[in-house]
Amino acid sequence: MPTYTLIAPAKINLLLEIIGDRPDGFHELVMVLQSIDLADIIELKALPGDQIQLNCSHPDVPLDSSNLAHRAATLMQTQFPDRGGVEITIQKHIPIGAGLAGGSADAAAVLVGLDLMWNLGLTQAELQTLGAALGSDIPFCVSGGTALALGRGEHLTPLPDPHQLYAVLAKYRSLSVSTPWAYKTYRQKFGDTYAKTSETQEQRRRSGPSVPLLTAINHQDQEQIPKYLYNDLERVVLLEHPQVLALREKFQQLGCLGTLMSGSGPTVFALMNSREEAQLLKTQLEVAVGDPDLDLWVTQFCCSGIQLQTT
Ligand code: C5P
Repeated sequence: MPTYTLIAPAKINLLLEIIGDRPDGFHELVMVLQSIDLADIIELKALPGDQIQLNCSHPDVPLDSSNLAHRAATLMQTQFPDRGGVEITIQKHIPIGAGLAGGSADAAAVLVGLDLMWNLGLTQAELQTLGAALGSDIPFCVSGGTALALGRGEHLTPLPDPHQLYAVLAKYRSLSVSTPWAYKTYRQKFGDTYAKTSETQEQRRRSGPSVPLLTAINHQDQEQIPKYLYNDLERVVLLEHPQVLALREKFQQLGCLGTLMSGSGPTVFALMNSREEAQLLKTQLEVAVGDPDLDLWVTQFCCSGIQLQTT
């Protein structure tokens, strides 16, 4: 029985702007998403019947149907019945509850992997439509690279890849942020701002912080990109977790090109031009903070989504 091994990269948000409420309880977003080379490895093996068995190297990851990867397998079985069961083994490298779309990346890998294992021949767009039913970040995780994401996050436009940039990630191991909590708190505190404005969402988008960032990305202007990082959710998460704000400030003091919290946090990243500079920044932050609970990674922007591992 062949084993399919897939590489599932994490993402960072170069931008997350909330421009409105949605009737489905979600928020209307403008995001710029970027894949990085920190990735989970997902192995799929056929099982008899319709069993779904999930294993994970990280003890805190749930192995039942609350796991998005498990739900992705169930969705594929519902859509394509009688193809068989699957054993999913996740080697977790992307931190959990971190704002890096680790769970979404794993689910995207299950969709792509089962399409291959069952010889379905689905297009990338079809896989993304299936993914959108499970989570807002999954369509991006399927295709990866650099993209503008609108709506709930599922309407994607690919952007030129600023491939020379490196991101140092910093996250306190014991701290996770609930994404629903972050959005709910934002809506309670700041929802009035966009509810009362007479501007349409389109007008808000066209006059908002994504404009200079998209110009920089479209011109592949590596110098300008780090200057226009933006995340509305920082307004609630950094207030609640001052130690995360302190990480962001430290990165700034140490002279990074730009720094931001990714997604709903609490991971903070800082951009640098070379691996050497990024490595130095990581060491400097490690020494400056001096907390064994702080995890740090040096990563590089990457231009791929889910990939089949060929070796
Ligand atoms: O779609 P996903 O499961 O990743 O979303 C997690 C949570 O984030 C949702 O339950 C919702 O609370 C919030 N969210 C939102 N608006 C979006 C995307 C996510 O409010 N566009």
